[in-house]
Amino acid sequence: MINIGVLGCGYWGPKHIRVCHEMSNAKLSAVCDLDEKKLQQVQIQYPGVKTTPRFSDFLRNNIDAVVIATPVHTHHRLAREALLNGKHVMIEKPMTSNSQEALELIELAEKRKLVLMVGHTYQYHPAVDYLKDLIGRGELGQLYGIDADRLNLGLFRPDVNVIWDLAPHDISIMLTLVNSDPIAVSARGTHHIDERVCDVAYIEVLFANGTMGHVHVSWLHPRKIRQITIVGSQKMAVYDDVSETEKIHIYDKGVAVPNEGNGNGNGNGNGHNRFSAWPPNYRYGNVVIPFISNAEPLKVECSHFIKCITEGIKPKSDGRMGLRVTSVLEAADKSLATAGQRVKLDLASMAVV
Ligand SMILES: NC(=O)c1ccc[n+]([C@@H]2O[C@H](COP(=O)([O-])OP(=O)(O)OC[C@H]3O[C@@H](n4cnc5c(N)ncnc54)[C@H](O)[C@@H]3O)[C@@H](O)[C@H]2O)c1
Repeated sequence: MINIGVLGCGYWGPKHIRVCHEMSNAKLSAVCDLDEKKLQQVQIQYPGVKTTPRFSDFLRNNIDAVVIATPVHTHHRLAREALLNGKHVMIEKPMTSNSQEALELIELAEKRKLVLMVGHTYQYHPAVDYLKDLIGRGELGQLYGIDADRLNLGLFRPDVNVIWDLAPHDISIMLTLVNSDPIAVSARGTHHIDERVCDVAYIEVLFANGTMGHVHVSWLHPRKIRQITIVGSQKMAVYDDVSETEKIHIYDKGVAVPNEGNGNGNGNGNGHNRFSAWPPNYRYGNVVIPFISNAEPLKVECSHFIKCITEGIKPKSDGRMGLRVTSVLEAADKSLATAGQRVKLDLASMAVV
């Protein structure tokens, strides 16, 4: 039985508390938050769980692992202390405020042989697993591009801009689906409500294999939209996370290019095709809506964390994935500050150039 402590009982922490409490091979032992009123709520709901507003007291409890669900600027300090005290750590997304902090935590966890995982929840979403499989089997053909929209009215955060709040989800999904390193990032955005915080942003990510990624994030939108569109040379797919029952649509649609270049007539996207006849042939086929399991991603994620601890395996969303996402966010911020100038990324050496 793994004893778990949860740090932070704001919006997201209570979800971890519920899931940890429900797990059969783990025990929710302690909860820490600076706000004592929130701790009183925890005591009412989960009698027997130790609560404290002091991090040092929290670490003295009999806990093997810590889940960190506090604001981003606290992640590095709390995770570092927890690792130094021999605890396995799962940090909520985004992993840290910058790539240097992420690197330090990775090195520390490796040195101490402790599990370091990042709460990139969509890595544990059955819809993302399905898409990964679909792309891996080559069903969509060559990937042309991925567009992500994550929009809603709020929730505004005082501590980070909309990119650091919402884009970690889409970037982690893209990194998994494209399976290639991002090599350049540009971002434009603006602030409408608080001049210190960007609340609408458009990010462009160029991958080494030529795939283009776009992420539109906004706290100022009339509708809740969580949608990812993937365009391939053979088929296209739309993942609508807001839909309860029809999360993924696969469209057998495309453009057949009768070309003069290589004569294969299928438009292979190598940039050398030319139409020999105009207009091109559009292909309209079936639309398939696959069954997607409704397993709760957070439950799958927490079970995976426990499995990694007990079996000594590397998490699917390990510190390196957290670092990759953080590096893209960092590059996006850098670009935002220069009105959208392209920032090169060298993830192989894990440094923003
Ligand atoms: N994976 C997801 O889908 C998802 C969803 C929402 C939020 N998050 C992430 O979860 C984290 C927390 O977000 P939130 O929306 O719950 O924030 P929040 O502001 O609602 O809550 C943060 C809580 O942490 C407490 N806190 C702050 N500093 C502390 C410290 N030093 N020690 C103990 N407690 C401290 C605060 O009192 C507050 O209760 C963020 O990293 C956020 O990005 C992830």
